[in-house]
Amino acid sequence: MPAPDQIVFFDTTLRDGEQSPGCTMHLDEKLRMAHQLSNLGVDVLEAGFAIASEGDFNAVRAIASQVRGTRIASLARCKREDIEAAARAIAPAPSNRIHVFLATSDLHLEYKLRITRQQALDQAAESVRLARSLVDDIEFSTEDGTRSDHDFLIQMITVAVQAGATTINIPDTVGYTTPAEYEALFRLVKTSVPGIDQVILSTHCHNDLGMAVANSLAGVQGGARQIECTINGIGERAGNAALEEIAAALMVRRDKFPYTHHLKMTELYPTSQMLAECISFGCSPNKAVVGANAFAHESGIHQHGMMANPLTYEIMTPESVGAGHTNLVLGKHSGRRALADRLEKLGHPLTREQLDEVYARFTELADRKKSIYDQDLLGLLHPAKAAPVATIS
Ligand code: KIV
Ligand code: ZN
Repeated sequence: MPAPDQIVFFDTTLRDGEQSPGCTMHLDEKLRMAHQLSNLGVDVLEAGFAIASEGDFNAVRAIASQVRGTRIASLARCKREDIEAAARAIAPAPSNRIHVFLATSDLHLEYKLRITRQQALDQAAESVRLARSLVDDIEFSTEDGTRSDHDFLIQMITVAVQAGATTINIPDTVGYTTPAEYEALFRLVKTSVPGIDQVILSTHCHNDLGMAVANSLAGVQGGARQIECTINGIGERAGNAALEEIAAALMVRRDKFPYTHHLKMTELYPTSQMLAECISFGCSPNKAVVGANAFAHESGIHQHGMMANPLTYEIMTPESVGAGHTNLVLGKHSGRRALADRLEKLGHPLTREQLDEVYARFTELADRKKSIYDQDLLGLLHPAKAAPVATIS
């Protein structure tokens, strides 16, 4: 068992993330990402769903053979063939895990699986026992746990713990729960399931209502100590909880979340960038922590504040998450001070009168051109020699 205040980061970028539209990765890309996730310091790396295809099996097996410094997991349904395939795929890893799941909501049992609650309990017990006979570390997930009847959920978790599960995950599969509700659910499980102190409880939140990160942190406050998440929040539909956002919240709001973890914070941005290179989209510019604008300031008032003291408008430094430097973007909302500062850095300190003149030319240019580069600024110093600019860029 990890220390009581330690958060276990379970990364599922290569499984829950990879199975979503536009996120398919080839074997070499998965391996590259897996090495980087290990550098980042994730405790558990879910490498794929071994039974899903030959490609998935080979990817999990290659990651288990080549990537060290993290525990390698494979997903499996409550089926013998899934569990055996997962065990074979992760076998080369010195530290590994089988992640078995079964739905617990009546909706899923009735319409998707077409089995009774009793059949579900029997399948779960049998599958966890089988998995445990093959590997020591077994996670059991109650799919659609947040929409499940509480008494049945507790019955299911009790059965899984008795069968040998070492981690119990309660997924918010459809992104339906709220922070207060999710926290209360973990508290209920902690006080109702015999032997629960011997297992780690885990969150797994989807972002359909934009609350995946808040729900994950609430789960921790309710007693969970493992968080399942993905880089850039990729995943089914609106995605999974974003790892970098959770890590940043733990860093910035240590007063509220006094927990430790193994992540190397300066690897957050490089990992996000690498993922964007491997899949077919990057994150939006205004994405928290790793978006292009996360540490960019254009308005004159904000730039003035930032130059006086960065704490005025930044709650963490870009350096702390490996994102380079604060970017004071020069545009039509910028003021004289930011312009003077940039020109001085470019080797052109200006007198007050010179700045007045250059600033007038700058605002005129900024009205016509959306992006202003250093080259444009240098052109403003000697307008006669400046290259013509396109009206919109
Ligand atoms: O969202 C979910 O319920 C899952 C499980 C398979 C863990 O991804
Ligand atoms: Zn999921």
